[in-house]
Amino acid sequence: MTYSKITGTGSYLPEKILTNKDMEKLVDTTDEWIRERTGIRQRHIAAEDETTCDLASHAALRAIEMAGKSSSDIDLVILATTTADKIFPGTACLLQKRLGVHGCPAFDVQAVCTGFVYALGIADKFIRAGEAKCALVVGSETLSRILDWNDRSTCVLFGDGAGAVVLEASAEPGILSTHLHADGSYEHLLHVPHGISSGYEQLKAGEAYVYMEGNAVFKMAVNKLGEIVDEALEANQVSKGDLDWLVPHQANSRIIEATARKLKMSMERVILTVSEHGNTSAASVPLALDTAVRDGRIKKGETLMLEAFGSGFTWGSALLQF
Ligand code: ACO
Repeated sequence: MTYSKITGTGSYLPEKILTNKDMEKLVDTTDEWIRERTGIRQRHIAAEDETTCDLASHAALRAIEMAGKSSSDIDLVILATTTADKIFPGTACLLQKRLGVHGCPAFDVQAVCTGFVYALGIADKFIRAGEAKCALVVGSETLSRILDWNDRSTCVLFGDGAGAVVLEASAEPGILSTHLHADGSYEHLLHVPHGISSGYEQLKAGEAYVYMEGNAVFKMAVNKLGEIVDEALEANQVSKGDLDWLVPHQANSRIIEATARKLKMSMERVILTVSEHGNTSAASVPLALDTAVRDGRIKKGETLMLEAFGSGFTWGSALLQF
């Protein structure tokens, strides 16, 4: 039986940092409010000439290096993003060109904060089906470009960044399952209300911003994240106690703590990086994963639960042996 296994991780955060104190100068907020409600201390902001593809390429090269591969080994590129460089072609194709990879499938996945988990699920299926052997799966975002910097209820929450993994065909178990979900009836609670075929005037005028009903999103996120964790454990006949690490979407430390409580997991077994970069949407799960792999917390052979929730609503999990 062929599994897919993560053999390399990488991440990248832009140089420029906006601390909560900096945010106090932009909107009517306080460092205390932001930390207490979200756990966020700072966020990274892409330079004016830095794009989602730029961030993605740094993260991708680091993941490829850790896997001991070269770009020419990559036979599938999937990039999860909500903030593509161009309307077309897909940012995955731009990344493919940047890495000097030619001919293999390369496409974007748009599932907002759950994008990376969706991309991982798709790449896993390509590998299990024998259609790819060495996939590059990336989450990369420049959310700062679609924030209303006068709206304190959203602009303090998000940041820019990228994370990537190399996923290879393996005889040993790697990804044990992915469970992906969506319910578009919640579209209006978290969205950018303008796009190409609807509200293009606002898009051109630079007035297409993130809109969120934070409270409603919070409640739904806690519920759904609890449900998907149970779903994945049950499907694999794995008990809560068998999990070594929870690697959650980094939106809000209170949401993460609520999920950990449901799992009866100590926060010492939960990877929490939101304080350092805010909500980086599709980049957040691979960013957290790479941080904990590189600082030595996550080790080979351990069992990890990755989970995410985002606009759509979309939500999903991946249970894997690292
Ligand atoms: N600074 C100070 N006060 C603020 C700020 C701010 N930055 N933002 C809002 N407030 C005020 C509000 O105006 C409100 O004031 P009022 O009581 O006078 O009306 C008060 O704080 C409370 O506002 P709430 O929205 O009720 O605050 P809440 O405790 O719900 O926290 C938050 C808000 C942090 C947004 C929370 O709801 C949350 O994290 N939601 C989930 C976000 C999320 O997880 N998103 C994931 C998906 S993201 C994606 O898919 C792109």
